[in-house]
Amino acid sequence: MEEGETKKMLFEPVSISGLTAKNRIVRSATYEKRADEDGFATEELINMYEELARGGVGLIVTGVALVHPSGRGMPKMLSVHSDRYIDKLSELTGRVHAAGGVIALQLLHGGRQCPPLYIGGEAPMAPSEVPDTSTGITPRAMRDEEIWMIIEAFGEAARRGLAAGFDAVQIHAAHGYLVSSFLSPYTNRRDDYWGGDEERRFHFVEEAYKAMRAGAGKSFPLMIKMNGDDLLPGGITPGESMRAARRLEDMGIDAIEISGGMRESAIKTIRPGILKPQDEAYFRDIGALFKKNVSVPVIVTGGMRTRKVMEGVLKRGEADLAGMSRPLIRQPDLPKLFKQGREKADCISCNKCANFLKLDTVRCVALEEGA
Ligand SMILES: Cc1cc2nc3c(=O)[nH]c(=O)nc-3n(C[C@H](O)[C@H](O)[C@H](O)COP(=O)(O)O)c2cc1C
Repeated sequence: MEEGETKKMLFEPVSISGLTAKNRIVRSATYEKRADEDGFATEELINMYEELARGGVGLIVTGVALVHPSGRGMPKMLSVHSDRYIDKLSELTGRVHAAGGVIALQLLHGGRQCPPLYIGGEAPMAPSEVPDTSTGITPRAMRDEEIWMIIEAFGEAARRGLAAGFDAVQIHAAHGYLVSSFLSPYTNRRDDYWGGDEERRFHFVEEAYKAMRAGAGKSFPLMIKMNGDDLLPGGITPGESMRAARRLEDMGIDAIEISGGMRESAIKTIRPGILKPQDEAYFRDIGALFKKNVSVPVIVTGGMRTRKVMEGVLKRGEADLAGMSRPLIRQPDLPKLFKQGREKADCISCNKCANFLKLDTVRCVALEEGA
């Protein structure tokens, strides 16, 4: 393919089951720390999403939105665990649409990675009592009825996402949070319907998907962000993850985003120092594996920094869409700049934006420091 043709690909529209993104750049979910203490969207948060929409990104995925109070992973995150949230979320989607954007809501239960501070001092919920070696916190194993309660919460949250005018919802099944911890053999040591072998580890996401489909209806796009690799011994591998993706495709999932790693992984989800093209697109090999095995759109996220690398990933069939988080914190108008000929994001992957417990809002600290 000629250079001109590959350039066209990044800015070619793509359809995800009825949703049309005007280009193949996805703003991957990024916690904003801009909801109020109760999880309602604030003016500041809505302004941030309007700015992203005006910046020309093809598809925005919101930061994590809480499906059940027992899964609060961080403060000032969006919430969608009650109908009370629908009005404010409708205002958010209305303003994003008016600014020309397309927006999906990401649904989260934080599972074993919830700090007890945010869940009333309780031990966090998980499939099994596997201590988190990075914090020393041991979660408690969920009872069967609790598992069904959270599955129902995902279904209700998807229904609210549709009611609030989102173009899609995405279940967060990556990074060691609850759904991911059921899929992972490292964190799921159960021997019942919910764990024991690969098929049973899949049951939580299978039931959550069914609940979401029942809640949001047949034609609403449902997406998943999943770990292609947990990046730790005993964790989910690209092969097992790909087979889960195939099952989800058979059930009707509309798009799959690939990421990897969890809090305990040695190699991180959010890798620092992505300064050379060789370091970019660090899940591209997993993208290639998924692309060979599923036919729904595949989004690959992690370390996309230059237009050329993103175009190469699309051209070689390693992904259908390229996801970005940190570069769009610094430059919400980066897609527009790429379209005008800019080659590279200004993001230096210093990860100061990810130190969110210390920040009052998630933002580019390097930019403020002049770096
Ligand atoms: C500040 C910050 C917040 C994030 N919040 C989320 C989130 O809410 N949901 C999610 O799936 N991933 C989240 N991530 C991970 C990103 O979506 C992405 O997978 C990761 O940063 C790698 O992509 P990048 O190199 O483009 O930043 C977050 C990352 C950062 C830096």
